[in-house]
Amino acid sequence: MKYSTRTGSLSELTTPCLIVGLEQARTVAAEQGQSALFDAAVQDFSDKAGRVLVVNLTRESGIKRLLVAGGTDGEVTPADYRKIVDAAARALKPLKIDSALWALAGTRVAARDLYWRYSAGLSALAGALYQFDQHKTGNDKELTLRAVQVHADARGRSWAQRAVREANALQAGLDFARDLGHQPPNVCNPTYLLREARKLGRLNKVKVSALDERRMKELGMGAFLAVTQGSATPGRMIVVEYRGAKAGDAPVVLVGKGITFDTGGISLKPAINMDEMKFDMCGAAAVLGTVRAAAEAKLPLNVVAVVAAAENMPSGGATRPGDIVRSLSGKTVEILNTDAEGRLVLCDALTYVERFKPRVVVDVATLTGAMIVALGAHASGLFSKDDELAEALLAAGEWSGDRAWRMPLWDDYQDLLKSNFADVPNIGGAGAGSIVAACFLSRFTGSYRWAHLDVAGSAFQGGAGKAATGRPVGLLFRYLIQATR
Ligand code: BES
Ligand code: MN
Ligand code: ZN
Repeated sequence: MKYSTRTGSLSELTTPCLIVGLEQARTVAAEQGQSALFDAAVQDFSDKAGRVLVVNLTRESGIKRLLVAGGTDGEVTPADYRKIVDAAARALKPLKIDSALWALAGTRVAARDLYWRYSAGLSALAGALYQFDQHKTGNDKELTLRAVQVHADARGRSWAQRAVREANALQAGLDFARDLGHQPPNVCNPTYLLREARKLGRLNKVKVSALDERRMKELGMGAFLAVTQGSATPGRMIVVEYRGAKAGDAPVVLVGKGITFDTGGISLKPAINMDEMKFDMCGAAAVLGTVRAAAEAKLPLNVVAVVAAAENMPSGGATRPGDIVRSLSGKTVEILNTDAEGRLVLCDALTYVERFKPRVVVDVATLTGAMIVALGAHASGLFSKDDELAEALLAAGEWSGDRAWRMPLWDDYQDLLKSNFADVPNIGGAGAGSIVAACFLSRFTGSYRWAHLDVAGSAFQGGAGKAATGRPVGLLFRYLIQATR
């Protein structure tokens, strides 16, 4: 999807579809001499946030249809505004048209400016106008829309242009992340992730490299290797560096969990919904997507994404519950459950990133099922002892609509991690599963400012509508934009 701005009087513009609020739609219809048709069509329309109606105008009209969004009159809350633009964006998707004109930024939103309204509308479009059908042989559900123009008057033009520029970058990053998430696990393995990451190297100021297992062994990444050793596909530590600022500027480092399939290993998962564990690389997809967005937006800062890519399989060579390994940090880990593998690959990645002398480190992982129990799909779980960093991430989530909610990381919880035989076990007892996982990671993050996002509930949707959401690319991209000021 490509976004652009368009100025001029609405009724003089031509478009296959104008997306607009009820009152403005009425005016436009009148100007096109289509009042009778319009009034009949909207007669039963309830003008509420989340309701939409498509009105087809007659052939002689330069505007072929009106996509009427309800609830746009008066001042609305940010939450209602999102509801309005989400519904409009979703209604746009099935229309068999190639472009549309978006004119919903005129609605007043409490405590939000025009730039936010453009951005919120564009991010609703970026979320909705996506399709993954690479493995379907029929193409009857094909998305035909290629471009959306956002309407701006002279006063709002520069805000619209800025929002459009960012939205084009965000769309590229989101699509990249979602495509990776959707690929089946026989396609998307660590080798594939590396190949896709290498494509980012074509972007300006982006460099891609990787550690193979031999190198990881030399370095002493015993925790990572314990996860990948049961798999026939070798693991990789993938590094994507975007240098948008001076070489000396400390980078924002993003670390992603890239388990391309999580069977649980010898601590095998139950069969039900196990296919959804192809989404266990969504953290990796999100950090790669975020770097892509940052590079496309030419943000003036340095960003490094590190992806811990491995497959968690049971086999004759797989790690056993009870195995003790030595992590890159030197700490020994007793692996009591091979299904708690995300923290094992991440702990070595978190030690590895010390070499980048990060400004901050944010890791992103579909780490615990307990996160879904706690927060469901609406918020990612945020864990950090750094209040300033936590506040900045929460604010970026709130602003972008890709929200996070802070969870405690109090030292009291650290006591749940005690091993009889090694420095630390990879699981705790019953209770507080997501916090215990975060506590485990925290043991490897002493030397820099750090936050952890558990996206088990937000990065993909399970069940009948299973799909990768691309989250938290929206949050992270916003955080990076904010970090440039
Ligand atoms: N990838 C899973 C977590 C997960 C489960 C994400 C469901 C999304 C949906 C992770 O590797 C895992 O298996 N975690 C275990 C940890 C436990 C063994 C301490 C879990 O959550 O059950
Ligand atoms: Mn697991
Ligand atoms: Zn996992």
